[in-house]
Order: sequence, then C-alpha cells, then structure tokens
Amino acid sequence: MLVTGLEILKKAREEGYGVGAFNVNNMEFLQAVLEAAEEQRSPVILALSEGAMKYGGRALTLMAVELAKEARVPVAVHLDHGSSYESVLRALRAGFTSVMIDKSHEDFETNVRETRRVVEAAHAVGVTVEAELGRLAGIEEHVAVDEKDALLTNPEEARIFMERTGADYLAVAIGTSHGAYKGKGRPFIDHARLERIARLVPAPLVLHGASAVPPELVERFRASGGEIGEAAGIHPEDIKKAISLGIAKINTDTDLRLAFTALIREALNKNPKEFDPRKYLGPAREAVKEVVKSRMELFGSVGRA
Ligand code: G3H
Ligand code: 13P
Ligand code: NA
Ligand code: ZN
Repeated sequence: MLVTGLEILKKAREEGYGVGAFNVNNMEFLQAVLEAAEEQRSPVILALSEGAMKYGGRALTLMAVELAKEARVPVAVHLDHGSSYESVLRALRAGFTSVMIDKSHEDFETNVRETRRVVEAAHAVGVTVEAELGRLAGIEEHVAVDEKDALLTNPEEARIFMERTGADYLAVAIGTSHGAYKGKGRPFIDHARLERIARLVPAPLVLHGASAVPPELVERFRASGGEIGEAAGIHPEDIKKAISLGIAKINTDTDLRLAFTALIREALNKNPKEFDPRKYLGPAREAVKEVVKSRMELFGSVGRA
C-alpha cells in the first residue's frame, strides 16, 4: 500500500529498526525492490532522483506509484535529493508520498527558508518531507573537532533547523559519502555526533551514502572486466550501530548498481551470441533483489510489515 514516508519512518525510529530507501531507475530495479519487500514482509521506500525521473520519465513514475499502491507491504515513493521547489512540485503532481529538499550546500538561513517553503507545499497535500543539514564527506577519525564541525551536522543546529522548518525527517552528515569510494579501509563514522543529534532531534534520522560496497561484488565486477579503483563502503556494524542511535532511513544505490552491472557483464561475457535482453537483465534483476533482501535483514526491517 502507498503510504507517506513519515508513516513508515516514525514507527521505525520508535521501534529501533531501519528502513531501506533504494534508488530505482527502471522497471527491473522497481520489480527487484518491491519483490524483495514483499518476500521479506518489510516496509520500503522507492527513491527516485531527479536523474531517475529524467531518465525514466512518466513511465517510471507511473509504474512506481501504481505498483506501490498494489504492494502488500507499506511503500513510500520518494523524491531523492530534490534540488528545487519546482522539482518537488513535479514529484507531488506525479503522486509521490515523500519528498526530499536538499539545500545542504546553501548557507543555514537559505536552507531553512527553502526547506520551510517545500514543507508548506508538501504538507498541504499530505506528503512528508526530508531535509538535509551538513556536508556528506568522508573524514578521518583523528581530524580536529572544529574541522569536523565545519562539514558534519551540528547537533544544536539540527534541533533549531527542525523546529524552524517543520521537516519530518532529517538527513545527517556523520562521515558517509555517495558512491563507491567512501574512504580507505573502514570509513570513520561519527557515532558520538549522531548520538548527540538524536538526543536533540526526535524525528527519524536519515543516512545517505550508506552502501556497503561489498568486496565480493567489487571482485565480481572486476572479474567480469569492469574497472574500479580502491572501492570502500560503510561497514555493516556501523550501519547497525547508527540504527540503534536513531537512524531510521538508510539510502542504498551504489550496491544495487554494482550488482546489476556485474551480472550483466557476466551474462554477456559468458554468451557473446546472446542478444535477448531478458537473458541478461533477468539475472541482473535477481541479483539486485538479493542485495535488497540482505540489506533489509541488516536494517532489521524484515517482518515489520
Ligand atoms: O545520491 C544520489 C543517488 O545515488 C542517485 O544518483 O542522481 O545519479 O540518480 P543519481
Ligand atoms: P550510496 O552511493 O552509498 O548507495 O548512497 C545512495 C544515496 O545516498 C542516495 O541518496
Ligand atoms: Na533521499
Ligand atoms: Zn543521497
């Protein structure tokens, strides 16, 4: 069933588990995520970025919203990293039930003002809002506190930001970053900072850039001819710890892309004569589904729907 983001996330924060927001760009990803959610009896968030909406167009938003309605588990259709008021309005019109306005690269007052404006529009039509405060960046454990403060989310600012904007959930910067290169070895996650934020902000918290970039997947990608450098993701124990401290929404894109592409590479390499797309997209879709299912186990959302 199609529900708001807050309906899913409020329960998650209260009960201490996480819900995955999985990025989708095409039919195969949509099917993979929804099938995984139903098999795991897990709530789920379908995340469509502006790039996804441009690539998939009306076909993608129609499929996402209609399939969410028919799903046997709670599903929110979410705009990921909305960059403008106009972009949010397009998502609202398409029937999304959750929107993110990301003005984290602006100064604090601009972020407050622009977020507030989106909250008013979205709430008027019953849609809930994610905002972001701080810069997503990999940092070293021993970086000085004031340097960390310049980049990462400041707990007291977060409290004021949420009060002034009326946003429903907040994306925080605690050391994660987007993509396959999140740092060296095991990237440092500032759990102490998260703990302080969570004490001041009762709303569900959101972790972007949370992919694990699993070494097995990286290896499969490489073995099938893919080129990838010193990839590193977020350790599963750091995800679990973050959930125990108040993270309720965990964004995952990179792991799904890696799985999908590795399986396509393998299938095409194995049979150069094949040109039926179903023969290589099918196994790739299955691999995405397996990654989503295992993420749901890690997040603790299995059986919560
Ligand atoms: O954080 C961004 C997501 O991974 C979506 O990426 O803008 O390339 O669709 P995208
Ligand atoms: P990853 O690149 O770690 O998958 O993060 C995705 C994300 O935060 C989408 O908003
Ligand atoms: Na998002
Ligand atoms: Zn993100």
